[in-house]
Parts: sequence; structure tokens; C-alpha cells
Amino acid sequence: MNIKSEREILLMKEAGHINYLAHKEMEKYIKPGVTTLELDKRIHDFIVKHGAVPSCLHYEGFPASACICVNEEVVHGIPGKRVLHDGDIVKLDFTVRKNGYESDMTRTYLVGNVSSEIRQMVKDTEDALYAGLSVVKPGNRIGDISHAIETYAHTHGLSVVEELVGHGIGTQMHEDPEVPNYGEAGKGPRLKKGMTLAIEPMLNMGKKEVCLLDNDWTVVTEDGSPSCHFEHTIVVTDDGYEILTGE
Ligand code: MF3
Ligand code: CO
Ligand code: CO
Repeated sequence: MNIKSEREILLMKEAGHINYLAHKEMEKYIKPGVTTLELDKRIHDFIVKHGAVPSCLHYEGFPASACICVNEEVVHGIPGKRVLHDGDIVKLDFTVRKNGYESDMTRTYLVGNVSSEIRQMVKDTEDALYAGLSVVKPGNRIGDISHAIETYAHTHGLSVVEELVGHGIGTQMHEDPEVPNYGEAGKGPRLKKGMTLAIEPMLNMGKKEVCLLDNDWTVVTEDGSPSCHFEHTIVVTDDGYEILTGE
């Protein structure tokens, strides 16, 4: 299932690197007063300037190049007039396609001065992603990743969104297998060298329940509590993993 050749992995790394660079570039622009639509425009233009395709745009009708979520918005936020304020968190989640291969990456960013409680949550969510990655190697199973993320989240007082999951990735943004952020160790498909996965914990400060807004895209926490999200595209290697959405 979903095994890529050396050549395909190189192409995904090219797409992933542009994705990483676009994220880095956006650090300059995230500050109080900016709208999510302005950020989306910058992401779009950066990707196009690098000869790649912002593949979220028009994906199943999605109207923008990036999913941009503020505070209680969990995923699939539609960029628009919402203005970032001091103390907010903002999540940029976007895919970059180059030469027919996809990459998917998300980071949660701090806007101005953010409370220590929320800063801790952002750190814990990124660390939960790395807890999941730490068990990636041939022979282990998807459930090992799921269980590692869930355990890390719960140990740090965060709840796990269950409705949305990580996924295989390649020529398609979403491929098999699904990678839930909760589950049982030792269960699920076995990891094999050359599998490419997008691993993406979505963790809430309050309850795990989410709901869908009237725009039919944006998922928010039911209790209005903040939600954090980090995502990397990785490949399973001989003895572990390599991040494709990196330097
Ligand atoms: N990047 C999202 C993911 O992590 C998918 C976004 S699909 C879109 O799987 F249509 F909303 F862009
Ligand atoms: Co994504
Ligand atoms: Co994804």
C-alpha cells in the first residue's frame, strides 16, 4: 500500500521544501491587524513564484490556497476578513504540488503576546506530533503512531479531535491509509519503507467535540476552546522516518 520509489520521494521532497519555505516566509506577516485573506494571498503568490501549485485551491470546491484557522477554529478555515488580534493563535495548513506530487504541512503561530497557557498548548501539540513520529519505522503499525499521539495529548491535559485524521499522500493529497490521532498500539496497517504519510494532531484545550459551521467547511470546537494543529509530510525510511516538509 502506498509505497513510493526513490524518484517519487525526491519529487515529494521538492514540493515539501517549498511548503516549508512558504511557512517560514509567513512568519514575517503574522501580526495583529493582518487579515486571514492577506495571508492567503501571500501564500498563494509564494507558491506560484516557486513554480508550484497551491493545490488546496478548488480542491473539492475549497475557495482558497490555504486553510487558515484562528483560536477555536480547528480545520478548513476559509480565509477572509477576520483580523488577527494580539493574543490569538493562527494555524496555516496548506498543500503544495510540484511535478505532480503533493506535500501537506501545518503550523500553529502566535500572534503578538499569547498567554502562557496557550503557548504551552502550542508547544505540547508540536511535541505530540514528534511523539507520533518517534514510533515511525518499518514493522510498527499506524496504531502505534495514533496511540503515541493520544497518550502524549492526554498526559498534557489536551483532548484529541476524532473527526479528522492524518493520511497517506503522494500524487493525491489524500491517500490510504488514514492516520487517526487516537487508537490502540499494535493495531492497523504495518508501516513499510517508502510509505509517505501526513501526520497531523489536532488537539483542543477543552472538550474534544467539534462542529461544522454554516459555510460547510470550517470545523470549530463546540465549547469555543482553542485548538492547535501541527502537520508534517514524512517518508518511512530503513530505520525511522524523514521529514519531507523541511529545510
Ligand atoms: N490540508 C488539509 C489536510 O491536512 C486538507 C485541506 S483540503 C482543503 O488534510 F480543501 F480544505 F483545502
Ligand atoms: Co494539511
Ligand atoms: Co493533511
